[in-house]
Amino acid sequence: MDTNSNSKNDEIGLLFIGHGSRLPYNKQVVTELAEKYSASNPNYPMEVGFMELVRPSIADAFNKLKEQDVKKVIVTPIFLAHGKHTKKDIPAILGLEPSDEELNPDEQAEHGHHHDHGHEHHHGHHHHAPAEPVEFDGEIIYNEPIGADDGLVAVLHERIDKYL
Ligand code: NI
Repeated sequence: MDTNSNSKNDEIGLLFIGHGSRLPYNKQVVTELAEKYSASNPNYPMEVGFMELVRPSIADAFNKLKEQDVKKVIVTPIFLAHGKHTKKDIPAILGLEPSDEELNPDEQAEHGHHHDHGHEHHHGHHHHAPAEPVEFDGEIIYNEPIGADDGLVAVLHERIDKYL
C-alpha cells in the first residue's frame, strides 16, 4: 500500500458494461456488481454503461470518466460469454479495432433471433444505429467477458448443493 491509497486515483477509470433491458433487473444487477466492486476498491472513478435499451449508454458512461481526466480506462463487460456485442458493437463504440475473430453465421443468427424475439415491438435502441465512437487519447483495456470462471462455480455450488 502506498501512502496515497486513500486518495482518488485520477489516472485510471473503471467502466462496467451491461447489456441493458426494458425491465429493471439487468441494470440493477450490473450496477450492484459494479458498486460492490467499487466499494472494495474505491480509489478509482467508476461508471456503468449499457449496450442498449437503458441509460446511461456506454459512450455516456465513458465520457463521464473522460471528464474526470482519466488517462486509462479498464472496460469490463458484465456478459457471461462473447457475442456480437462484445466482439463488434462495444469495440466499435470504444473506437477499438474489431476483433480479428470473425463471427460465424450461426452466432450472428443467434443474436438476430434473440433480438427478433426481444425487441421487435420497439424501436430506437442502438443496435442498428451505431453512434460515432468515443474520442479518447488515452489507453483502453478491454477485458474478456466473465466466462466459465471458478468464482462462478462457487456460486453454483452455493445455489445447488443445499438441495442435493
Ligand atoms: Ni443485444
